[in-house]
Amino acid sequence: MASDFDLYRPSEEHEMLRDSVRALAEAKIAPYAAEVDEEARFPQEALDALVANDLHAVHVPEAYGGAGADALATVIVIEEVARVCGSSSLIPAVNKLGSLPVILSASEELKKRYLAPLAKGDAMFSYCLSEPDAGSDAGGMKTKAVRDGDSWVLNGVKRWITNAGVSDYYTVMAVTDPDKRTKGISAFVVEKDDEGVSFGAPEKKLGIKGSPTREVYLDNVRIPADRMIGAEGTGFATAMQTLDHTRITIAAQALGIAQGALDYAKGYVQERKQFGKPIGDFQGVQFMLADMAMKIEAARQLTYAAAARSERVSEGSEKEDLTFFGAAAKCYASDAAMEITTDAVQLLGGYGYTRDYPVERMMRDAKITQIYEGTNQVQRIVMARNLP
Ligand code: CAA
Repeated sequence: MASDFDLYRPSEEHEMLRDSVRALAEAKIAPYAAEVDEEARFPQEALDALVANDLHAVHVPEAYGGAGADALATVIVIEEVARVCGSSSLIPAVNKLGSLPVILSASEELKKRYLAPLAKGDAMFSYCLSEPDAGSDAGGMKTKAVRDGDSWVLNGVKRWITNAGVSDYYTVMAVTDPDKRTKGISAFVVEKDDEGVSFGAPEKKLGIKGSPTREVYLDNVRIPADRMIGAEGTGFATAMQTLDHTRITIAAQALGIAQGALDYAKGYVQERKQFGKPIGDFQGVQFMLADMAMKIEAARQLTYAAAARSERVSEGSEKEDLTFFGAAAKCYASDAAMEITTDAVQLLGGYGYTRDYPVERMMRDAKITQIYEGTNQVQRIVMARNLP
């Protein structure tokens, strides 16, 4: 029987997957990363390359036409894409976030209907939990769904929705019974083309500029009753269970961004000469690189340990300590990524502070990983409530 340690350690197949995603990312995604950031445009080249290689939504089970990758393989894909382009890594990450409520809780009919196009690369998925006045307090949402015969009618505004406008499908959490707070929230699949769905202007962000973040407006959106995910009143629990698994994908994104910055800085310090020798020969610089590598490895081990728990839960085990591990991995890896990318900018000095070098983009991209899928303050609340 595999020990816990074996479960955290990537197998030979995982390492082969890493090699092939790295080669693809360097050849087909990296060349556009600076331009995508500069122009704040969607990384279509990345989407095309990921879809062509079946890497855009690897988590979709084989039963629905997907690759059926385990949680660790999904982490590795996101990590390797993020190593060259944070914005592009949100394609596999948010496809998992948006569709996981369906995988975890929807009827067989909904799974078939919505997972197959996702697996084929014909549609992307987004996740609509947050609202203008309900961020950390997700249970305080105002978007309403009212039953009307065989339909639900949705009204409200969702905010900070990653890949909004590009995605065809949206998992929307809405209040179906205002008296029950979190127990009165239900989840639905809404389609981009449903009448009454529209999008706000793209947010002007510090980083991940290639991934559109927009509001989603729901104006009397009438959808068939069978688009509810799971039973009425279970939407908040489904949303939280989803985040238990997907916070690990944000840890993976943070890890990849940090690795990209370290790899770049490592090369730079060998090239850059001051005082007659490469700056990498100075012990002060070596200590910084050592700390960066140490933090990445610690973050990687925690992220893979969390992915092993995610996989076990997906295979039917009890929830164990997944909630703690998902929050801990996301929190630790994103804090580490912020430190590591900031240090990478420092190592490049004035050059690091310009857009002629990729590390300032990586530093800007790293910042969001401390904020979304729950701020790191929320992660600490979650960890404190679920101490192992
Ligand atoms: N698994 C299953 N059910 C859970 C759960 C979990 N991990 N956590 C909570 N629940 C359920 C429980 O049934 C609980 O009811 P019980 O009393 O019966 O246990 C119910 O939900 C309510 O839970 P809480 O009382 O803990 O809820 P709360 O109002 O105190 O909120 C919170 C808890 C942790 C702060 C939560 O609101 C939260 O996670 N906030 C952050 C939201 C967030 O992460 N937003 C990110 C948006 S997505 C995003 O950023 C995506 C992107 O674009 C990339």
